[in-house]
Amino acid sequence: MARRKKIYEGKAKILYEGPEPGTIVQYFKDDATAFNAEKRDVIEGKGVLNNRLSEFFMTGLGTVGVPTHFLKRLNMREQLVRQVEIIPLEIIVRNLAAGTMAKRLGLEEGEALPRPIVEYCLKDDKLGDPLVSEEHIFAFGWASQQDLDDMVALALRVNDFMSGLMYGVGIKLVDFKIEVGRLWDGDFQRLIVADEISPDSCRLWDIETGQKLDKDVFRRDLGNLADAYTEVARRLGVLPANATPIIKPTLIN
Ligand SMILES: Nc1ncnc2c1ncn2[C@@H]1O[C@H](COP(=O)(O)OP(=O)(O)OP(=O)(O)O)[C@@H](O)[C@H]1O
Ligand SMILES: [Mg+2]
Repeated sequence: MARRKKIYEGKAKILYEGPEPGTIVQYFKDDATAFNAEKRDVIEGKGVLNNRLSEFFMTGLGTVGVPTHFLKRLNMREQLVRQVEIIPLEIIVRNLAAGTMAKRLGLEEGEALPRPIVEYCLKDDKLGDPLVSEEHIFAFGWASQQDLDDMVALALRVNDFMSGLMYGVGIKLVDFKIEVGRLWDGDFQRLIVADEISPDSCRLWDIETGQKLDKDVFRRDLGNLADAYTEVARRLGVLPANATPIIKPTLIN
């Protein structure tokens, strides 16, 4: 049997060569890491949920005209995506203060921000993905002004789409990060949303109770991570096919 070629193994996913040039297969692992991989665990079912949720968000973005790398889901843990040159920046959009921003600026977690705020971090695990400014980005050539304008425009459209979608199921989108990739079409290039959009890369709080439904559950030991992600999937109507059905009381005549 032919063996497919592994291109890269990261903390949450494995990339394999795809069936056609310009495509790759993303395999979603159950591994959870936080604080630059200082904290790690295996959360059974997380990969299945993130595969399905990322498919759901990326497909939805596609229908409103936001270009993404997603092509199709192959099975419970794998999806086929377009191979891109990843721009070495994480684009973060924040609607409410939380996490490192709250700490850095002395803000209360959950405090509303005057407007959505976009931040950039350099994708470099050895350095702990440091926050960088536009000056750094242009001076070191990580992206051009045009690239950055396109990336911010993509990130804000993702924010609008995701905020609305989440609001509809009683969840606040506090913040999220995306990765963006460069796609070549002959001499032309365009930037598209790549990597994943999932509760690993967003902060999601229940609107009523404030309950956290994202990776902070793992970072801060707040309970079972898979249960939190299942709740997000359940509200969005995208539970994986083999998920244990929620047992409801049945009426017996
Ligand atoms: N469409 C794509 N084409 C090429 N590379 C991609 C694409 N989508 C995501 N990637 C890259 O694939 C890897 C996914 O693996 P994973 O998320 O496990 O990485 P990671 O451990 O978070 O490390 P990294 O710091 O590289 O993101 C990331 O490096 C990501 O940038
Ligand atoms: Mg990653």
